[in-house]
Amino acid sequence: MNPGDALPLLRLLADGRFHSGDALATALGLSRATVCQRMDHLEALGIVCHRIRGRGYQLPAPLDLLDPDALRVALADARVTLECLPQVASTNTELLARADALASGHVLVTEWQTGGRGRQGRHWLAPPGQGLTFSLLWRFAGGVGALAGLSLAIGVALARACRECGVDGVQVKWPNDLLLHGRKLAGVLVEVQGDMLGPSVAVIGVGLNVHAAPALDEGQSAAALGEAAGRALSRNDVLCALIRQMTVALRAFEMQGFASFRNDWRDLHAWQGQLVEVIRPDAGRQSGIALDIDDSGALLIEGPTGVSRVLSGDVSLRPA
Ligand code: BTN
Repeated sequence: MNPGDALPLLRLLADGRFHSGDALATALGLSRATVCQRMDHLEALGIVCHRIRGRGYQLPAPLDLLDPDALRVALADARVTLECLPQVASTNTELLARADALASGHVLVTEWQTGGRGRQGRHWLAPPGQGLTFSLLWRFAGGVGALAGLSLAIGVALARACRECGVDGVQVKWPNDLLLHGRKLAGVLVEVQGDMLGPSVAVIGVGLNVHAAPALDEGQSAAALGEAAGRALSRNDVLCALIRQMTVALRAFEMQGFASFRNDWRDLHAWQGQLVEVIRPDAGRQSGIALDIDDSGALLIEGPTGVSRVLSGDVSLRPA
């Protein structure tokens, strides 16, 4: 079954009330048996739904779904074009495929990303209604060489947006993650097209856990923004804050590159001054103190043989 086939069903259940199987089947133009199959599919995806004989189906709590019209109104001043798709395999893949036809500032957000991609070939899991999965396309006059440090600047922008939503204590982990209390809150996947000398285009993909944190498959644990907000968060509001801060940051990055984010990034760095281990794609390892970050976003680590510059590429970093 196509994972997104269950989305219309989820929309009907989103109010958190009881819906009988017959009412759901009629509203969706499906048989009762198909409704049951789709319900099983939702459960297999980890979406718990109570079934009570004689009453029907009910989600344990209402779902906080995106409201595309309200989002467009709220983002009118951000000078972006917002496209909302109920379901897509990967917002990054979709924007990269259509990049030639899109203007700078195009945002694609989806309720249900069925094949989300992370760095180093990993998957990004986000159950519908829980997190935010979106990508922003941005055009630069300069070449791809000038975009080193872009994903770090985006990390700073996302941390600022989280603060705006009432959550302090979000930190950055070099090169592309956001952490909350040491657990992964968000990931950034920047993919670029263009020439070394320009122009170039970046598709900046963001996955951020708002209500529930999915299990991660790499021995990491995940966090959700709502855990630390002290009030109910709305995904619509969080998305607006993220997009606003990203566009502000992108305009600053266009003018000054990563240099203007460097101090803020250092202040937000989870492992600043700590002993870390860099793991390279060929499994080679290098340990040292995370000393600093340079103007191109490279990490400076101090080891027994001196200070070395680590470029993000495909390396991973962890506390040693
Ligand atoms: C990582 O932590 O490895 C980066 C995760 C990036 C996930 C986002 S979700 C929206 C966008 N579309 C994708 O397929 N990936 C990014």
